[in-house]
Amino acid sequence: MTEAALTEADFAAAVDQAQSAAKSYYDTGDVLMTDADYDALLDRITAAKKAHPDWDDRGVLTRVAAGVSSGGDVRHPVPMMSLDKVTGEDDVRTFVASLGGDPCLVEVKLDGLAIRVEYKSGRLALAALRGDGSTGENVTAQVLRGIAGLPARLGTAWTGEVRGEVYMTVGDFEAASANRVAAGSKAFINSRGAVAGSIRSIDRTYETPMTFAAYDISGDFPAHRERMAHAVELGFPVAGQLATGEIQVAGDAEAALAAIARIGELRRDLEFPIDGAVLTADLESTRRRLGSASRTPYWAAAFKYPADTGSTVLRDIEVRVGRTGRITLRAVLDPVFVDGTTITYATLHNPSFVEEQGLAIGQTVAVWRAGDVIPRVTAPIGEQPHGLTPWTPPEACPQCGEPWDKSSLLWRCHTASCSATNALEYWCSRDALDVEGAGEALCVALVNAGLANDVADLYVLTEEQLAELPVGNTKAGGVVLLGKLNAAKVIASLEHSKTQPFNRVITGLGIRMTGRSVGRWLAARFKTMDALRAATVEEIAEIDKMGLIKAQHVIDGLASMSGVIDRLAAAGVTMSVPETEGDKPLEGKTYVVSGSVPGYTRTTVSERIEQLGGRASGSVSATTTALVTSETTTAKATKAAKLGIPIIDPAEFANLLAD
Ligand code: IVH
Repeated sequence: MTEAALTEADFAAAVDQAQSAAKSYYDTGDVLMTDADYDALLDRITAAKKAHPDWDDRGVLTRVAAGVSSGGDVRHPVPMMSLDKVTGEDDVRTFVASLGGDPCLVEVKLDGLAIRVEYKSGRLALAALRGDGSTGENVTAQVLRGIAGLPARLGTAWTGEVRGEVYMTVGDFEAASANRVAAGSKAFINSRGAVAGSIRSIDRTYETPMTFAAYDISGDFPAHRERMAHAVELGFPVAGQLATGEIQVAGDAEAALAAIARIGELRRDLEFPIDGAVLTADLESTRRRLGSASRTPYWAAAFKYPADTGSTVLRDIEVRVGRTGRITLRAVLDPVFVDGTTITYATLHNPSFVEEQGLAIGQTVAVWRAGDVIPRVTAPIGEQPHGLTPWTPPEACPQCGEPWDKSSLLWRCHTASCSATNALEYWCSRDALDVEGAGEALCVALVNAGLANDVADLYVLTEEQLAELPVGNTKAGGVVLLGKLNAAKVIASLEHSKTQPFNRVITGLGIRMTGRSVGRWLAARFKTMDALRAATVEEIAEIDKMGLIKAQHVIDGLASMSGVIDRLAAAGVTMSVPETEGDKPLEGKTYVVSGSVPGYTRTTVSERIEQLGGRASGSVSATTTALVTSETTTAKATKAAKLGIPIIDPAEFANLLAD
């Protein structure tokens, strides 16, 4: 598609737009347009300028950072240059040929801000941004606040200058953006914008972690690789080693193209943002021979990968429960092409983040792809239509209607049927199958590893699989495995759980609106899983306190889990109440137990009462035989006294159950 040629007025407006986007970007870090949109705008200005050389581009096409106020109070002793772009294979071949057979290095082009840092006798003395290339802003105080890779003091008394890029890793970005939102400002668009917005603000009240990597250092060295080895010796991380371990060396154009392609392939997995690959002559002699133009050297060039940030309209935010029970927010977008892929869905951080930013359906938002394959919506971008209503998250889980557990940023739904992890955790809980060692961490790990998606999967796990399961991280970032000893305990406990009473199996299925009591009632009434599955809604509803709604949930829950139940039965899990011989001394008696009974849990005491033919109830009424409690002032005790119902001491009751 060819774009219509610009009129002079359009040209002036485009220059205005480019200037204000660049100015606000460099001066305040606010992003009015994505890099891709900005590049497209500059391409249009370039084409018009070619056709009309007399039109005034006000420097947007020629200055290092178009439109930026240098803001510079520090003059660079040697200018901080930019790099010419190479755009296709032919450009790469031409560049490599220009080196005349000398080695060409290929390293990542970090997507951050260029910085120059002077050390005197091992102490950080000055840090300055590139600015317009001749003078830049003094950011010493901000850098001394802490940038990984730029220590305030080196291990040796070195005096010299190191140049490189300040950038944010994906982790730095997440933390910085969350801190900024928590401080009441808009989130950052992407990591470069975040660095630009952070590094100039001296009085920032929130932390914005940043990282440095060097691509140049003062001193006489025969080649770039020796220069960088010196930087490493002094303790600076170097750009060339970040992605590939060692700087890639290409003897010819084909090797350079392969090295560019290799970085391109790695790009998605990198935990730091890159926007291209830098091609550079290794030898000083090559660099001297080729020399430099006014703002770019002839001995280096930048190959740009497609932009990693796009802008598009937010059409909807879908709320779901993820496999681990956490809320997941999915942005539905107008399709946008970012880094080779059309994106229509993206993730959003968490509900508070979305709310605090005032994201609204119909808004234009930035979409960033970095570090992984799932793109994320980071912030609103550019001018917005008026009158949009900010989006608010639902107060309850959309799947089960229960209110969220909001104790962490990623809200959680605990309903067993809403996620695989919840189902496993509930099955293993004390009131259900009581599997020791199978808490949240293990259940999340099992789901994440793909080892268990439902409770029946637990019974085919092997000790070896469990021992190798990553269940946490050490402080140093290492992985903690479950280990052989714990694995053996879990397997033994799973084996034992097969013998747990039938009522616990029913409870453990985690059917909506059912719990410990319903498990016991259903087991007592139907005795076997086959009978329970054959029961009608009316038969279930007839049970005291069940009612039609709960009964329907039981029918639906059993039907949806029929495959799981069959596999549990095949694994040997109890599917019936054992035929009991002997008398039922508590037949016709109803007990309310409040507080603990020695030797029993809440669940086992109720189970024992029912095993002996009695009923366990939660509330005192005229039909209660006795209240079991050691308290005499509680509401239950007062009510019992009023109704003339006897109160039994828990220890005495334990004796009664034991007989
Ligand atoms: S070499 C003469 N190496 O890209 C300038 N630059 O447009 C020498 N950059 O201003 C630069 N990673 O801020 C070089 N590995 C790398 C780089 C890198 C990022 C930036 C740098 C420079 C811009 C060039």
